[in-house]
Amino acid sequence: MLAFAAFVAGITVGTQYGVHTSALVDGARRRFLGPAFATCADIWQGYPLSPVYQVEDLELGKHPIPGLQHVTLHGFRQHGMRGFEVLQQTLAPGVATPVHEHNCQEVFLVLSGQATAAIRGKDGKVVESQIRTNSTFNILPNARHQLVNTGREDLTFIAIIDNLPLRPTFFKSFDDTSAGQTISPMLWDQQCPSAVPDSLRNFVTAPAASDASTEL
Ligand SMILES: *[C@@H]1O[C@H](CO)[C@@H](O)[C@H](O)[C@H]1NC(C)=O
Repeated sequence: MLAFAAFVAGITVGTQYGVHTSALVDGARRRFLGPAFATCADIWQGYPLSPVYQVEDLELGKHPIPGLQHVTLHGFRQHGMRGFEVLQQTLAPGVATPVHEHNCQEVFLVLSGQATAAIRGKDGKVVESQIRTNSTFNILPNARHQLVNTGREDLTFIAIIDNLPLRPTFFKSFDDTSAGQTISPMLWDQQCPSAVPDSLRNFVTAPAASDASTEL
């Protein structure tokens, strides 16, 4: 009974925060992972659940690689995503991601451009595949990989990752046997947006169901 009351209280508080967040889950996560892992709930306060916003309005996320643009579409920290996170990244021509690995699955969908995807299999062999618009593939946990934009256009893709927050480890090469350099959590999961996206400011709230019913 007490658990149920706490659950309902959590939903009520969560609704006040507006978007994707329940104070109960946030509190549990903060206790488990520390204050750095709280969501950016304050930013979204007063906005409706699951708002629609435009990708072009979103702020760029931090990433250590020059020539790589990162946008968190639905993030662990920024939007309180649980289970998985959705990112969009753009690599300028000639730009490569570091050789890296992470303890999570990653699904890719290429929106535009051409590149080489190098992925190391369980047998230790690195397989290189040419990828282009509409190519889709997934990376298994801890499979070392790298994308290299070999084309003349930007490479833009969407990536979905699980086992949040992302803690990537970067290596000098596929043969690098060092422990590598881990960023935990990844830089974009350490940020909150500085403001709500413009497209969300213009969001028009529909009349509540109870208001509508009085007109019937
Ligand atoms: C990508 O896939 C969509 C949907 O199947 C298709 O309409 C489009 O022509 C494809 N684009 C390219 C460049 O192949």
